[in-house]
Amino acid sequence: MSHSRRKRLLAYSLVGPCLVFASCQAPQTASSTVGTVAAEVSARPGINDEFLKPSLNLTQWVERFEREGREIFTEREKIAAAAKVQSGMAVADVGAGTGLFIPLLSQAAGPKGKVYAVDIAKDFLAHIDQRAAAAGLNNVKTVLCTERSVELPPNSIDLAFICDTYHHFEYPRSTMASLHRALRPGGAVVLVEFKRIQGKSSDWVMDHVRAGQEVFTAEIEAAGFKQAEQIDFLKDNYILRFKKVKL
Ligand SMILES: C[S@@+](CC[C@H](N)C(=O)[O-])C[C@H]1O[C@@H](n2cnc3c(N)ncnc32)[C@H](O)[C@@H]1O
Repeated sequence: MSHSRRKRLLAYSLVGPCLVFASCQAPQTASSTVGTVAAEVSARPGINDEFLKPSLNLTQWVERFEREGREIFTEREKIAAAAKVQSGMAVADVGAGTGLFIPLLSQAAGPKGKVYAVDIAKDFLAHIDQRAAAAGLNNVKTVLCTERSVELPPNSIDLAFICDTYHHFEYPRSTMASLHRALRPGGAVVLVEFKRIQGKSSDWVMDHVRAGQEVFTAEIEAAGFKQAEQIDFLKDNYILRFKKVKL
């Protein structure tokens, strides 16, 4: 065997298996990151523990979320109107909780529209199913999602409504990436969040909500959205509308 042929064979015996290994590994790595952002760590470990208890005390949560004095509840009609849901739209209420907004979104989307009540807590979803059936809200569908993905098909919704929930996302980059895929071109995200201002907000808000408006806006824009509107009529909360843009 010539010297140059021996060199080529030696090179193949060293590099060949690496190429085979690489070609076997690449698709696996790619598919394992679909739907998630690789290596994202929890932004707030344990924040949802109380919602994920084996038996949720629904009465307690209905009383907590649907009481006068909670600005989100008192102003729910104006907040829902600010989301500008049009008849025929497919809307996801991400972090739907006890379903406070479901009747309002359902009415706005109308019989040709669809409202997905999306949550990680199955007991909340069972409650929403009962509530929607009792009220004859035929365009409502509950979706059990995960802490990293909204579990909606690609290009399936026109609007995502996220109220008092973004700060509960343990994996906001993964969740927002899944939402970006679920939104149709031109789709929008409406964010309702606590104002978190040092020296003004309560100690509870400062402790419970991990960041303020600037940080959340930067995170959402980094996920492929552009702020399009700020709607100011609330005292304790702000409302922002983002448009989906290409990543
Ligand atoms: C404070 S509650 C707000 C409920 C409702 N939006 C309201 O304003 O009355 C937060 C909700 O977000 C849900 N949640 C937390 N992380 C979530 C995630 N990654 N995806 C979807 N829902 C989530 C919780 O289970 C809970 O129902």
